[in-house]
Amino acid sequence: MTAAPVGPHDSIQAAFKEAFTRFAATVSVISYTALGSVPAGMTATSMCSLSLDPLSLLVCMNRLAKSHSEILAAGRFGVNMLSSGQRDAAEYCSRPGAIKRLPDEWLLAGDGTARSPVLAHGVAHLDCRLVRTYTEPTHSILIGEVERVWIGPKAEPLLYCNRVYRRFDDEGDTEAMLRVWDRVAFGALS
Ligand SMILES: Cc1cc2nc3c(=O)[nH]c(=O)nc-3n(C[C@H](O)[C@H](O)[C@H](O)COP(=O)(O)O)c2cc1C
Repeated sequence: MTAAPVGPHDSIQAAFKEAFTRFAATVSVISYTALGSVPAGMTATSMCSLSLDPLSLLVCMNRLAKSHSEILAAGRFGVNMLSSGQRDAAEYCSRPGAIKRLPDEWLLAGDGTARSPVLAHGVAHLDCRLVRTYTEPTHSILIGEVERVWIGPKAEPLLYCNRVYRRFDDEGDTEAMLRVWDRVAFGALS
């Protein structure tokens, strides 16, 4: 059976793209050490948690991206969940093919315990060892075992939806989110 779109789109691929354009996601910078010493990063939204035991997450990456081969070579990566004030980092790290060296002033100074670069003003950083890669025709699924979690100062996440960067702009929602956050922090929710 040929897959067909339902609605105004010419193809199911166009409808698929439109559907995911509407999918709001937190923006992350996947950080790593290139060439043994250069802190670098790539912007990504296709990241999600995988399991608590083992503590793991996954990232989907275009196999043509320069970062793809560099992360495989590094064998490690970090997930920096961005805060709403880090749009410049998201734009900087989404320029295909460019050298995306992370400027020193963006990095958490004096943090010797993480083995992937930590963006200082992020919501959180998860330091991962690349344990498996599933190869699909155009993308890879990278499985990272999480070795360290750094929680940044309380801040709203940077979102991406309908091809633009966004932030929560409803005060009520923000306050509710912070209340839930407090309850999670105190163990009332998990
Ligand atoms: C908001 C946003 C989210 C993105 N998410 C992903 C993603 O999840 N996976 C991916 O492979 N590329 C993603 N990209 C594209 C990469 O960031 C972009 O292609 C990157 O600059 C590749 O650079 P490189 O070829 O130098 O590694 C995203 C771009 C933007 C702007």
